[in-house]
Amino acid sequence: MTDNNATDSASVEPLLKVEGLVKHFPIRKGLLQRQTGAVKAVDGLSFDVRPGETLGVVGESGCGKSTMGRLITRLLEPTGGKVEFAGHDITHMSAGQLRPLRRDIQMIFQDPYSSLNPRHTIGTIVGAPFKLQGVQPEGGVKKEVQRLLGLVGLNPEHYNRYPHEFSGGQRQRIGIARALALNPKLVVADEPVSALDVSIQAQVVNLLDDLQDELGLTYVIIAHDLSVIRHVSDRIAVMYLGKIVELADRKSLYEAPMHPYTKALMSAVPVPDPRRRGAKSERILLKGDVPSPIAPPSGCRFHTRCWKATEICGTQEPPLLQLKPGRQVACHHPENAEDQVPDDKVLPSAREAVEIVSVSKAEPVSTTEPVSKPGPVSKTEPEPDGV
Ligand SMILES: Nc1ncnc2c1ncn2[C@@H]1O[C@H](COP(=O)(O)OP(=O)(O)O)[C@@H](O)[C@H]1O
Ligand code: SF4
Ligand SMILES: [Mg+2]
Repeated sequence: MTDNNATDSASVEPLLKVEGLVKHFPIRKGLLQRQTGAVKAVDGLSFDVRPGETLGVVGESGCGKSTMGRLITRLLEPTGGKVEFAGHDITHMSAGQLRPLRRDIQMIFQDPYSSLNPRHTIGTIVGAPFKLQGVQPEGGVKKEVQRLLGLVGLNPEHYNRYPHEFSGGQRQRIGIARALALNPKLVVADEPVSALDVSIQAQVVNLLDDLQDELGLTYVIIAHDLSVIRHVSDRIAVMYLGKIVELADRKSLYEAPMHPYTKALMSAVPVPDPRRRGAKSERILLKGDVPSPIAPPSGCRFHTRCWKATEICGTQEPPLLQLKPGRQVACHHPENAEDQVPDDKVLPSAREAVEIVSVSKAEPVSTTEPVSKPGPVSKTEPEPDGV
Protein backbone atom coordinates (compact mmCIF):
# COMPACT_ATOMS: atom_id res chain seq x y z
CA MET A 1 0.00 0.00 0.00
CA THR A 2 1.24 3.47 -0.76
CA ASP A 3 0.63 6.82 0.85
CA ASN A 4 -1.30 7.97 -2.17
CA ASN A 5 -4.79 8.87 -1.34
CA ALA A 6 -7.59 8.78 -3.81
CA THR A 7 -7.71 12.51 -4.44
CA ASP A 8 -3.95 13.00 -4.85
CA SER A 9 -3.61 10.29 -7.41
CA ALA A 10 -6.91 10.76 -9.24
CA SER A 11 -5.29 13.09 -11.75
CA VAL A 12 -2.43 10.69 -12.53
CA GLU A 13 -2.67 8.79 -15.80
CA PRO A 14 -3.66 5.19 -14.92
CA LEU A 15 -1.19 2.37 -15.58
CA LEU A 16 -4.05 0.01 -16.36
CA LYS A 17 -7.36 1.06 -17.80
CA VAL A 18 -10.18 -1.45 -18.16
CA GLU A 19 -13.42 -0.61 -19.93
CA GLY A 20 -16.48 -2.84 -20.24
CA LEU A 21 -14.36 -6.00 -19.97
CA VAL A 22 -16.26 -9.18 -20.91
CA LYS A 23 -15.30 -12.85 -21.00
CA HIS A 24 -17.92 -15.40 -21.97
CA PHE A 25 -16.77 -19.03 -22.17
CA PRO A 26 -18.85 -20.83 -24.78
CA ILE A 27 -20.63 -24.03 -23.78
CA ARG A 28 -20.70 -26.50 -26.67
CA LYS A 29 -22.74 -29.67 -26.94
CA GLY A 30 -23.31 -32.58 -29.28
CA LEU A 31 -21.40 -33.98 -32.20
CA LEU A 32 -21.37 -30.70 -34.03
CA GLN A 33 -20.13 -28.88 -30.94
CA ARG A 34 -22.80 -26.28 -31.40
CA GLN A 35 -22.72 -23.45 -28.87
CA THR A 36 -25.68 -23.84 -26.52
CA GLY A 37 -24.84 -21.13 -24.04
CA ALA A 38 -22.00 -19.33 -22.30
CA VAL A 39 -20.48 -18.99 -18.87
CA LYS A 40 -20.61 -15.24 -18.28
CA ALA A 41 -17.52 -15.27 -16.10
CA VAL A 42 -16.72 -11.55 -16.49
CA ASP A 43 -19.55 -9.39 -17.67
CA GLY A 44 -18.69 -5.73 -18.06
CA LEU A 45 -15.95 -4.53 -15.72
CA SER A 46 -14.61 -0.99 -15.81
CA PHE A 47 -11.85 0.26 -13.53
CA ASP A 48 -8.46 1.96 -13.50
CA VAL A 49 -5.31 1.10 -11.61
CA ARG A 50 -3.00 4.03 -10.89
CA PRO A 51 0.77 3.75 -10.78
CA GLY A 52 1.99 2.67 -7.35
CA GLU A 53 -1.39 1.75 -5.93
CA THR A 54 -2.85 -1.56 -4.79
CA LEU A 55 -6.29 -2.44 -6.02
CA GLY A 56 -7.83 -5.25 -4.00
CA VAL A 57 -10.45 -7.36 -5.77
CA VAL A 58 -12.73 -9.41 -3.56
CA GLY A 59 -15.72 -11.68 -4.05
CA GLU A 60 -16.95 -15.22 -3.52
CA SER A 61 -15.48 -18.17 -5.33
CA GLY A 62 -16.71 -18.37 -8.93
CA CYS A 63 -17.51 -14.66 -9.33
CA GLY A 64 -14.87 -14.19 -12.06
CA LYS A 65 -11.84 -12.86 -10.19
CA SER A 66 -9.28 -15.22 -11.71
CA THR A 67 -10.75 -14.73 -15.16
CA MET A 68 -10.42 -10.97 -14.66
CA GLY A 69 -6.77 -11.44 -13.58
CA ARG A 70 -6.03 -13.54 -16.65
CA LEU A 71 -7.70 -11.01 -18.92
CA ILE A 72 -5.79 -7.99 -17.66
CA THR A 73 -2.48 -9.88 -17.92
CA ARG A 74 -3.66 -11.10 -21.35
CA LEU A 75 -3.24 -14.77 -20.53
CA LEU A 76 -6.81 -14.83 -21.89
CA GLU A 77 -8.27 -12.79 -24.71
CA PRO A 78 -11.37 -10.78 -23.84
CA THR A 79 -14.72 -11.42 -25.56
CA GLY A 80 -15.48 -7.72 -25.33
CA GLY A 81 -14.34 -4.43 -23.86
CA LYS A 82 -10.89 -2.91 -23.73
CA VAL A 83 -7.69 -3.29 -21.71
CA GLU A 84 -5.12 -0.54 -21.91
CA PHE A 85 -1.70 -0.88 -20.29
CA ALA A 86 0.63 2.11 -20.04
CA GLY A 87 -1.21 3.74 -22.94
CA HIS A 88 -1.14 0.64 -25.20
CA ASP A 89 -4.36 -1.07 -26.21
CA ILE A 90 -3.50 -4.70 -25.43
CA THR A 91 -7.05 -6.12 -25.75
CA HIS A 92 -6.42 -8.20 -28.86
CA MET A 93 -2.63 -8.07 -29.21
CA SER A 94 -1.03 -11.26 -30.55
CA ALA A 95 1.55 -13.19 -28.52
CA GLY A 96 4.30 -11.57 -30.62
CA GLN A 97 2.97 -8.06 -30.06
CA LEU A 98 2.62 -8.75 -26.35
CA ARG A 99 6.14 -10.06 -25.94
CA PRO A 100 7.87 -6.78 -25.11
CA LEU A 101 5.08 -5.93 -22.65
CA ARG A 102 5.31 -9.29 -20.89
CA ARG A 103 8.24 -7.95 -18.90
CA ASP A 104 6.09 -5.23 -17.42
CA ILE A 105 3.07 -7.35 -16.45
CA GLN A 106 3.55 -10.35 -14.17
CA MET A 107 1.24 -12.68 -12.32
CA ILE A 108 1.58 -14.50 -9.00
CA PHE A 109 -0.63 -17.57 -8.75
CA GLN A 110 -2.64 -19.03 -5.92
CA ASP A 111 -1.05 -22.40 -5.63
CA PRO A 112 2.69 -22.37 -4.93
CA TYR A 113 2.68 -26.19 -5.23
CA SER A 114 1.51 -26.55 -8.79
CA SER A 115 2.96 -23.32 -10.19
CA LEU A 116 6.60 -24.38 -9.71
CA ASN A 117 8.01 -27.15 -11.88
CA PRO A 118 9.15 -29.88 -9.42
CA ARG A 119 11.95 -31.04 -11.73
CA HIS A 120 13.64 -27.65 -11.90
CA THR A 121 15.92 -26.08 -9.34
CA ILE A 122 15.00 -22.78 -7.75
CA GLY A 123 17.80 -21.19 -9.76
CA THR A 124 16.31 -22.40 -13.02
CA ILE A 125 12.77 -21.38 -12.02
CA VAL A 126 13.63 -17.86 -10.89
CA GLY A 127 16.09 -17.43 -13.77
CA ALA A 128 13.63 -18.63 -16.45
CA PRO A 129 12.19 -15.18 -17.25
CA PHE A 130 15.68 -13.95 -18.28
CA LYS A 131 16.02 -16.84 -20.70
CA LEU A 132 12.51 -16.42 -22.08
CA GLN A 133 12.98 -12.72 -22.70
CA GLY A 134 16.60 -13.03 -23.82
CA VAL A 135 17.77 -10.70 -21.06
CA GLN A 136 21.30 -10.86 -19.67
CA PRO A 137 21.33 -9.19 -16.26
CA GLU A 138 24.41 -7.35 -15.12
CA GLY A 139 26.69 -9.73 -13.23
CA GLY A 140 25.02 -12.80 -14.76
CA VAL A 141 21.80 -14.72 -14.18
CA LYS A 142 23.04 -16.63 -11.13
CA LYS A 143 24.03 -13.52 -9.26
CA GLU A 144 20.76 -11.81 -10.11
CA VAL A 145 18.70 -14.84 -9.04
CA GLN A 146 20.56 -14.92 -5.75
CA ARG A 147 19.84 -11.24 -5.25
CA LEU A 148 16.14 -11.90 -5.93
CA LEU A 149 16.08 -14.82 -3.45
CA GLY A 150 17.56 -12.55 -0.82
CA LEU A 151 15.02 -9.85 -1.67
CA VAL A 152 12.10 -12.18 -0.89
CA GLY A 153 13.67 -13.42 2.35
CA LEU A 154 15.12 -16.72 1.14
CA ASN A 155 18.65 -17.95 1.52
CA PRO A 156 20.55 -17.16 -1.73
CA GLU A 157 22.68 -20.26 -1.15
CA HIS A 158 19.68 -22.44 -1.90
CA TYR A 159 19.89 -21.76 -5.56
CA ASN A 160 20.36 -25.47 -6.37
CA ARG A 161 17.51 -26.85 -4.28
CA TYR A 162 14.21 -28.17 -5.60
CA PRO A 163 10.70 -26.89 -4.83
CA HIS A 164 9.80 -29.89 -2.63
CA GLU A 165 12.53 -28.88 -0.19
CA PHE A 166 10.61 -25.71 0.66
CA SER A 167 7.49 -25.03 2.71
CA GLY A 168 4.35 -23.48 1.22
CA GLY A 169 5.21 -19.96 2.29
CA GLN A 170 8.74 -20.30 0.95
CA ARG A 171 7.46 -21.62 -2.36
CA GLN A 172 5.20 -18.61 -2.66
CA ARG A 173 8.29 -16.44 -2.05
CA ILE A 174 9.99 -18.28 -4.94
CA GLY A 175 6.95 -17.48 -7.12
CA ILE A 176 7.23 -13.84 -6.08
CA ALA A 177 10.97 -13.77 -6.88
CA ARG A 178 10.22 -15.18 -10.34
CA ALA A 179 7.51 -12.58 -10.93
CA LEU A 180 9.90 -9.77 -9.96
CA ALA A 181 12.85 -10.99 -12.05
CA LEU A 182 12.25 -8.66 -14.97
CA ASN A 183 11.42 -5.66 -12.85
CA PRO A 184 7.73 -5.47 -13.80
CA LYS A 185 5.48 -2.44 -13.44
CA LEU A 186 2.24 -4.30 -12.72
CA VAL A 187 1.91 -7.44 -10.60
CA VAL A 188 -1.41 -9.28 -10.53
CA ALA A 189 -1.54 -11.64 -7.55
CA ASP A 190 -4.39 -14.15 -7.69
CA GLU A 191 -5.17 -15.30 -4.14
CA PRO A 192 -1.45 -15.24 -3.32
CA VAL A 193 -1.92 -16.54 0.21
CA SER A 194 -5.14 -18.61 0.07
CA ALA A 195 -3.25 -21.91 -0.11
CA LEU A 196 -1.02 -21.03 2.83
CA ASP A 197 -1.36 -21.68 6.52
CA VAL A 198 -3.10 -18.74 8.22
CA SER A 199 -0.02 -18.09 10.35
CA ILE A 200 2.08 -17.59 7.21
CA GLN A 201 -0.42 -15.48 5.27
CA ALA A 202 0.43 -12.20 6.99
CA GLN A 203 4.16 -12.68 6.39
CA VAL A 204 3.67 -13.11 2.67
CA VAL A 205 1.22 -10.21 2.45
CA ASN A 206 3.67 -8.02 4.37
CA LEU A 207 6.47 -9.08 2.03
CA LEU A 208 4.38 -7.99 -0.97
CA ASP A 209 3.71 -4.69 0.77
CA ASP A 210 7.41 -4.09 1.52
CA LEU A 211 8.44 -4.99 -2.02
CA GLN A 212 5.93 -2.52 -3.37
CA ASP A 213 7.50 0.33 -1.41
CA GLU A 214 11.00 -0.75 -2.35
CA LEU A 215 10.39 -1.32 -6.04
CA GLY A 216 7.54 1.07 -6.78
CA LEU A 217 5.24 -1.73 -7.94
CA THR A 218 1.58 -1.48 -8.84
CA TYR A 219 -0.60 -4.34 -7.62
CA VAL A 220 -3.92 -5.93 -8.33
CA ILE A 221 -4.43 -8.37 -5.46
CA ILE A 222 -7.30 -10.84 -5.72
CA ALA A 223 -8.79 -12.47 -2.63
CA HIS A 224 -11.98 -14.27 -1.71
CA ASP A 225 -12.19 -12.63 1.67
CA LEU A 226 -11.63 -9.16 2.90
CA SER A 227 -9.35 -10.04 5.77
CA VAL A 228 -6.40 -10.71 3.45
CA ILE A 229 -6.55 -7.49 1.48
CA ARG A 230 -7.87 -5.07 4.05
CA HIS A 231 -4.46 -3.84 5.13
CA VAL A 232 -2.69 -3.67 1.80
CA SER A 233 -5.28 -2.21 -0.57
CA ASP A 234 -5.58 1.45 -1.40
CA ARG A 235 -8.87 0.82 -3.14
CA ILE A 236 -11.12 -2.22 -3.19
CA ALA A 237 -13.40 -3.57 -5.92
CA VAL A 238 -16.11 -5.93 -4.73
CA MET A 239 -17.25 -8.42 -7.39
CA TYR A 240 -20.43 -10.45 -7.62
CA LEU A 241 -21.21 -12.78 -10.52
CA GLY A 242 -18.95 -11.18 -13.11
CA LYS A 243 -19.63 -7.58 -12.16
CA ILE A 244 -18.19 -4.92 -9.86
CA VAL A 245 -20.88 -3.98 -7.35
CA GLU A 246 -18.81 -1.50 -5.34
CA LEU A 247 -15.50 0.26 -5.87
CA ALA A 248 -14.16 2.51 -3.15
CA ASP A 249 -11.09 3.54 -1.26
CA ARG A 250 -10.34 1.16 1.57
CA LYS A 251 -11.11 3.51 4.42
CA SER A 252 -14.56 4.53 3.30
CA LEU A 253 -15.43 0.98 2.29
CA TYR A 254 -14.66 -0.21 5.81
CA GLU A 255 -16.22 2.72 7.57
CA ALA A 256 -19.46 2.70 5.62
CA PRO A 257 -20.06 -0.03 3.03
CA MET A 258 -22.73 1.02 0.56
CA HIS A 259 -23.59 -2.16 -1.32
CA PRO A 260 -25.58 -4.74 0.67
CA TYR A 261 -23.24 -7.48 -0.59
CA THR A 262 -20.19 -5.57 0.68
CA LYS A 263 -21.93 -5.19 4.01
CA ALA A 264 -22.56 -8.93 4.21
CA LEU A 265 -18.95 -9.74 3.26
CA MET A 266 -17.66 -7.33 5.88
CA SER A 267 -19.87 -8.62 8.64
CA ALA A 268 -18.16 -11.97 8.13
CA VAL A 269 -14.74 -10.53 8.92
CA PRO A 270 -13.73 -10.71 12.59
CA VAL A 271 -13.33 -7.32 14.25
CA PRO A 272 -9.61 -6.60 14.53
CA ASP A 273 -9.96 -3.75 17.02
CA PRO A 274 -9.34 -5.20 20.50
CA ARG A 275 -11.49 -2.49 22.13
CA ARG A 276 -14.45 -3.57 20.04
CA ARG A 277 -13.71 -7.26 20.13
CA GLY A 278 -15.88 -7.96 23.13
CA ALA A 279 -18.70 -5.78 21.85
CA LYS A 280 -21.83 -7.39 20.49
CA SER A 281 -21.92 -7.33 16.76
CA GLU A 282 -24.26 -8.70 14.17
CA ARG A 283 -23.28 -11.01 11.43
CA ILE A 284 -25.27 -11.14 8.22
CA LEU A 285 -25.38 -14.68 6.93
CA LEU A 286 -26.36 -14.85 3.29
CA LYS A 287 -28.58 -17.82 2.53
CA GLY A 288 -28.48 -19.87 -0.62
CA ASP A 289 -25.74 -20.47 -3.12
CA VAL A 290 -24.23 -18.07 -5.59
CA PRO A 291 -26.39 -18.38 -8.74
CA SER A 292 -24.87 -19.82 -11.90
CA PRO A 293 -23.00 -17.45 -14.21
CA ILE A 294 -24.55 -19.38 -17.13
CA ALA A 295 -27.96 -17.88 -16.38
CA PRO A 296 -27.41 -15.02 -13.92
CA PRO A 297 -30.51 -13.53 -12.22
CA SER A 298 -32.34 -10.74 -14.07
CA GLY A 299 -32.03 -7.12 -12.95
CA CYS A 300 -29.59 -6.87 -10.05
CA ARG A 301 -27.70 -10.16 -9.97
CA PHE A 302 -27.69 -10.07 -6.18
CA HIS A 303 -31.50 -9.78 -5.87
CA THR A 304 -32.01 -13.49 -5.12
CA ARG A 305 -29.93 -13.15 -1.94
CA CYS A 306 -30.51 -9.52 -0.96
CA TRP A 307 -32.58 -8.61 2.09
CA LYS A 308 -33.31 -5.16 0.62
CA ALA A 309 -34.55 -6.33 -2.78
CA THR A 310 -37.62 -4.62 -4.20
CA GLU A 311 -39.52 -5.11 -7.46
CA ILE A 312 -37.19 -2.93 -9.52
CA CYS A 313 -34.20 -5.02 -8.39
CA GLY A 314 -35.62 -8.06 -10.19
CA THR A 315 -36.09 -6.22 -13.47
CA GLN A 316 -33.63 -3.34 -13.80
CA GLU A 317 -29.91 -3.72 -13.47
CA PRO A 318 -28.54 -0.96 -11.21
CA PRO A 319 -25.70 0.87 -13.00
CA LEU A 320 -22.37 1.38 -11.22
CA LEU A 321 -22.72 5.02 -10.20
CA GLN A 322 -20.49 7.42 -8.34
CA LEU A 323 -22.67 8.12 -5.31
CA LYS A 324 -19.94 9.90 -3.34
CA PRO A 325 -16.51 11.17 -4.37
CA GLY A 326 -14.29 8.19 -5.15
CA ARG A 327 -17.10 5.69 -4.51
CA GLN A 328 -18.98 3.74 -7.10
CA VAL A 329 -21.92 1.55 -6.17
CA ALA A 330 -24.40 -0.50 -8.20
CA CYS A 331 -27.54 -0.63 -6.05
CA HIS A 332 -31.07 0.80 -6.11
CA HIS A 333 -31.17 0.92 -2.30
CA PRO A 334 -27.61 1.58 -1.11
CA GLU A 335 -26.60 1.61 2.52
CA ASN A 336 -25.29 4.87 3.99
CA ALA A 337 -26.73 6.91 1.12
CA GLU A 338 -30.01 8.21 -0.17
CA ASP A 339 -32.36 5.52 -1.49
CA GLN A 340 -32.60 5.68 -5.28
CA VAL A 341 -36.12 4.18 -5.44
CA PRO A 342 -37.58 4.81 -1.97
CA ASP A 343 -41.19 3.69 -2.42
CA ASP A 344 -40.70 0.48 -4.35
CA LYS A 345 -42.42 -2.68 -3.09
CA VAL A 346 -40.19 -5.10 -1.20
CA LEU A 347 -39.89 -8.53 -2.83
CA PRO A 348 -41.26 -11.33 -0.62
CA SER A 349 -38.03 -13.29 -1.11
CA ALA A 350 -36.06 -10.49 0.55
CA ARG A 351 -37.41 -11.41 3.99
CA GLU A 352 -35.92 -14.87 3.61
CA ALA A 353 -32.58 -13.81 2.16
CA VAL A 354 -30.45 -13.50 5.25
CA GLU A 355 -30.15 -14.59 8.80
CA ILE A 356 -28.86 -12.05 11.29
CA VAL A 357 -26.79 -13.61 14.01
CA SER A 358 -25.64 -11.83 17.12
CA VAL A 359 -22.13 -12.66 18.15
CA SER A 360 -20.54 -11.49 21.35
CA LYS A 361 -16.94 -12.25 20.48
CA ALA A 362 -14.83 -12.30 17.38
CA GLU A 363 -15.40 -15.99 16.87
CA PRO A 364 -13.99 -17.86 13.94
CA VAL A 365 -16.17 -17.17 10.96
CA SER A 366 -17.76 -19.85 8.91
CA THR A 367 -21.11 -19.54 7.28
CA THR A 368 -21.01 -16.57 4.93
CA GLU A 369 -17.31 -16.91 4.50
CA PRO A 370 -17.06 -17.43 0.78
CA VAL A 371 -16.06 -20.95 -0.05
CA SER A 372 -12.32 -21.17 0.03
CA LYS A 373 -10.26 -23.89 -1.41
CA PRO A 374 -7.69 -24.69 1.24
CA GLY A 375 -4.57 -25.93 -0.39
CA PRO A 376 -2.12 -28.35 1.09
CA VAL A 377 -0.51 -26.98 4.18
CA SER A 378 3.10 -27.68 4.74
CA LYS A 379 4.31 -29.12 7.98
CA THR A 380 7.62 -27.38 7.73
CA GLU A 381 6.31 -23.94 8.72
CA PRO A 382 6.98 -21.54 10.37
CA GLU A 383 9.15 -19.71 7.97
CA PRO A 384 11.38 -18.15 6.87
CA ASP A 385 13.58 -20.44 8.84
CA GLY A 386 16.74 -19.70 6.97
CA VAL A 387 16.84 -22.97 5.00
N1 LIG B 1 -11.75 -21.88 -19.13
C1 LIG B 1 -13.00 -21.86 -18.67
N2 LIG B 1 -14.02 -22.43 -19.37
C2 LIG B 1 -15.28 -22.40 -18.91
N3 LIG B 1 -15.65 -21.80 -17.77
C3 LIG B 1 -14.70 -21.22 -17.04
C4 LIG B 1 -13.32 -21.21 -17.44
N4 LIG B 1 -12.59 -20.55 -16.50
C5 LIG B 1 -13.48 -20.16 -15.54
N5 LIG B 1 -14.74 -20.56 -15.86
C6 LIG B 1 -15.97 -20.30 -15.09
O1 LIG B 1 -16.08 -18.91 -14.94
C7 LIG B 1 -16.61 -18.60 -13.66
C8 LIG B 1 -15.65 -17.68 -12.94
O2 LIG B 1 -14.48 -18.41 -12.60
P1 LIG B 1 -13.20 -17.74 -11.92
O3 LIG B 1 -12.78 -16.58 -12.73
O4 LIG B 1 -12.21 -18.82 -11.72
O5 LIG B 1 -13.79 -17.24 -10.54
P2 LIG B 1 -13.06 -16.93 -9.14
O6 LIG B 1 -11.61 -16.75 -9.42
O7 LIG B 1 -13.72 -15.69 -8.64
O8 LIG B 1 -13.34 -18.09 -8.25
C9 LIG B 1 -16.83 -19.92 -12.94
O9 LIG B 1 -18.18 -20.29 -13.12
C10 LIG B 1 -15.92 -20.86 -13.69
O10 LIG B 1 -16.43 -22.17 -13.65
S1 SF4 C 1 -30.13 -3.32 -6.32
FE1 SF4 C 1 -31.65 -4.23 -4.97
S2 SF4 C 1 -31.15 -6.40 -4.93
FE2 SF4 C 1 -29.38 -5.34 -5.75
S3 SF4 C 1 -28.11 -5.00 -4.00
FE3 SF4 C 1 -29.34 -3.18 -4.24
S4 SF4 C 1 -31.14 -3.52 -2.94
FE4 SF4 C 1 -30.14 -5.48 -3.21
MG1 LIG D 1 -9.98 -17.72 -8.57
